[in-house]
Amino acid sequence: MTVQEITEQLGELRERALRDVAEADDPAALREVEVAYLGKKGQLKSILDAIGGLPAEDRPRVGAAGNEIKTAVLEAMERRRRRLEGIALEVRLAAEREDVTLPGRPLHRGSLHPLIETNREIARVLGQFGFVTYETPEVETDELNFQALNIPEDHPARDLWDTLYVTPPEAAPRDPAGGPTYLLRTHTSPGQIHVMRTVQPPIRALLPGRCFRYEAVDASHAFEFFQMEGLMVDEGTTLADLRGVLDEFGHALFGADRPTRFRPGYYPFTEPSVAFDVRCIVCEGEGCATCKRTGWFTLLGGGMVHPVVLRNGGLDPERYQGFAFGMGTDRIAMVRHGISDIRLFLENDLRFLEQL
Ligand code: PHE
Repeated sequence: MTVQEITEQLGELRERALRDVAEADDPAALREVEVAYLGKKGQLKSILDAIGGLPAEDRPRVGAAGNEIKTAVLEAMERRRRRLEGIALEVRLAAEREDVTLPGRPLHRGSLHPLIETNREIARVLGQFGFVTYETPEVETDELNFQALNIPEDHPARDLWDTLYVTPPEAAPRDPAGGPTYLLRTHTSPGQIHVMRTVQPPIRALLPGRCFRYEAVDASHAFEFFQMEGLMVDEGTTLADLRGVLDEFGHALFGADRPTRFRPGYYPFTEPSVAFDVRCIVCEGEGCATCKRTGWFTLLGGGMVHPVVLRNGGLDPERYQGFAFGMGTDRIAMVRHGISDIRLFLENDLRFLEQL
């Protein structure tokens, strides 16, 4: 080849290479262009190989032209690479852009179920008197749910608690074979026996829990509901202690000025037995559906622990006296929140729960 031919070919290669660089649209394509033109077996090399056949005085000039092309192509490639990187960054930034002026998405916060919340509030207030919470079983024996609480079989007071039996119906309530009859506790009172048998006086116990009764369901009756039992046993405990604790309790829950009253009541496991009322929260004494026109709302039943019950709990009634009380947590939660239907607590309809 002549100098002129080589020079022409070099000029033409320069143009093609620069065009290909400009058209490469990603780093891999650039790399291919580099190999094709500047690589060991690339086009520039094969042209320059012909330099050896030129006259000696022409070689430096042609060689310099080859180097200039190589440098120009490399520079173009570097510029193109930077440009491609810039484009890629812009694309990424655009995709990741966030509009910080958009309103936030509200966090969905859970809250305590009204029964749990009421339970905790009761335990908090009575906790200030040293009452400590214990858990006792939901499945009980007839012995603890009734007999140990001074309610023998065939006692008419059993009618107060319509019972769901776990032991098969043909065996319940009396099992001639003598095995224990199991039932779902109808109240938290059997927990009194559990506590007396395990804790030494002075006892100040709270026994919250689910109870069950075989009842027709309506707005104020559920076959599944919650109670909170209180038990205090010590030497010299009197009815005045019960009165004092309950007054404080009623005032803490429903206001310091709210009138309270004790009425006689009846339970086989307390003697004497009382009912504890507060002035109706809804009508303030005028008379309404909540207080059944009496002007008073019954918070709980209670009394002095019957000597038979103390003895069944393993305690000597000559030495120890105690008081006990039991309340329906659902009923208390209902008046606290102005809810008229007990069934709402178990349905767990969020539209209801979110209002509280
Ligand atoms: N257990 C009784 C009930 O279910 C309430 C109660 C508890 C009464 C303790 C007196 C003492 O109605």
